[in-house]
Amino acid sequence: MLYPTLFSPLKFPALEIKNRVLRSNIAGRFDNYDGSGAQPRINWEVKFARGGVGAIISSFVPVHPRGRILPNYATIHSDDRIPFWKALGEAVHAHDCKYILQLSHGGRQRDIPTIDYPLGLSSTAKKDPLHGFECEAMTLAQIKETVTAFAEGARRAREAGLDGVELHGANGYLITQFLSSGINDRDDEYGGVLANRARFVREIVQAIRARVGRDFHLQMKISATEYNDALLPDEPPGNTIDDSTQVCQWLRDDGVDAIHVSSGSAFPHPRNPAGDLPVDELLKTYDSLISSGALTLRNYLLFRGKITSALFKNRWEMARGPREHIEGLNRPDARAIKNAVGTIPVICTGGFQTAAIIEDAIVRGDCDAVSIARPLIANNDLVQQFARGIGRPANPCTYCNRCLVNAPENPLGCYDESRFPSRDVMIQEILSVYTPQAFQ
Ligand SMILES: Cc1cc2nc3c(=O)[nH]c(=O)nc-3n(C[C@H](O)[C@H](O)[C@H](O)COP(=O)(O)O)c2cc1C
Ligand code: SF4
Repeated sequence: MLYPTLFSPLKFPALEIKNRVLRSNIAGRFDNYDGSGAQPRINWEVKFARGGVGAIISSFVPVHPRGRILPNYATIHSDDRIPFWKALGEAVHAHDCKYILQLSHGGRQRDIPTIDYPLGLSSTAKKDPLHGFECEAMTLAQIKETVTAFAEGARRAREAGLDGVELHGANGYLITQFLSSGINDRDDEYGGVLANRARFVREIVQAIRARVGRDFHLQMKISATEYNDALLPDEPPGNTIDDSTQVCQWLRDDGVDAIHVSSGSAFPHPRNPAGDLPVDELLKTYDSLISSGALTLRNYLLFRGKITSALFKNRWEMARGPREHIEGLNRPDARAIKNAVGTIPVICTGGFQTAAIIEDAIVRGDCDAVSIARPLIANNDLVQQFARGIGRPANPCTYCNRCLVNAPENPLGCYDESRFPSRDVMIQEILSVYTPQAFQ
């Protein structure tokens, strides 16, 4: 076996997966407007289970209708959602793959608010500085209600027969909005020093453990370094790796079984998913956000201008860092967290698509496993290719981020035409997710 560590099983306290590659979270508008699940989501997930990953971590799954960031994402906010998640879990399990559901709440970071809750909730009442998404600061009663919603989401995932849950504590969504020194401006017990900012997520973990017990897998995705000033230098920098290692130690003590390391205080962010900013493609979908935020029309016009868009693209890609650093760019943060938490596994996300680099990251002790999103969109069978001794796919992901900027409006898939023999073949592949159409 060429990559013995990559293909060795990984044991978490309450879960074992067959190898060290997890499909990372990839959100897409597969479902019905009201958040009831639909067959294309099952078809999408099965592609990766078939391709050989040890586990799939779902996309953003709202635990409360007010936590939705776009319509057509399947939710887990009520018991009538359980049969859908059960059917999805069974379809994935049929390929010897585990399924971890990402419990999520968007807070103020909402691309297209749904008709039921026009105003977002957050730790703060300040608009987000890039798009101007508006929100109100949560009351103590709303915090309590949301903590319960996360715990109920975990209970439903367990009842659906899924293998675990992940808290979406990264990338600028509600949990980040509490954790972040760059966003949280509260003066009550949920704001101020780190211990107060971490109170919300710690209460969620404690509530989940009280609801589902100790023997159900629970992991936390965190933006280890926030780079909150990456695009807007007047903003505070946000949490550092030292803040995050402390948070991860608290979470481990509260009963979290693994840490999933990401970065960036918003989504998307120059460092996540790290790649290009395809402004030509972004223009085709950003229009659907224009009414969502106070600054979105300004941004749209900026993206339309030749000079302004070139300047913005340049700024974005400078903030990302050199292209050759994309693969494994979160390794230093993962290593710091692994050293700090000791006993629980650490999963690192960001750019991985070369078997030798993954093997090296694990052997050197930077992480215990990697999670992969875009390179698996590009090559659903990446892990099977590794097993056949192909260390890097012949037609790799180019990190062009066209999948990302299409996601708010169009079906998920690889949109880099240069990777396909023709545009027709690319479209056929993207639309393949609509067949079969079995789930009612
Ligand atoms: C289209 C798209 C959708 C994503 N959706 C989510 C999501 O719902 N939840 C999440 O935590 N991360 C999400 N991510 C981030 C990925 O899970 C991953 O951590 C990131 O893209 C870096 O990994 P990669 O370089 O392998 O793509 C998304 C990324 C992309 C490209
Ligand atoms: S569009 Fe395709 S090649 Fe470009 S980043 Fe997404 S998966 Fe990779």
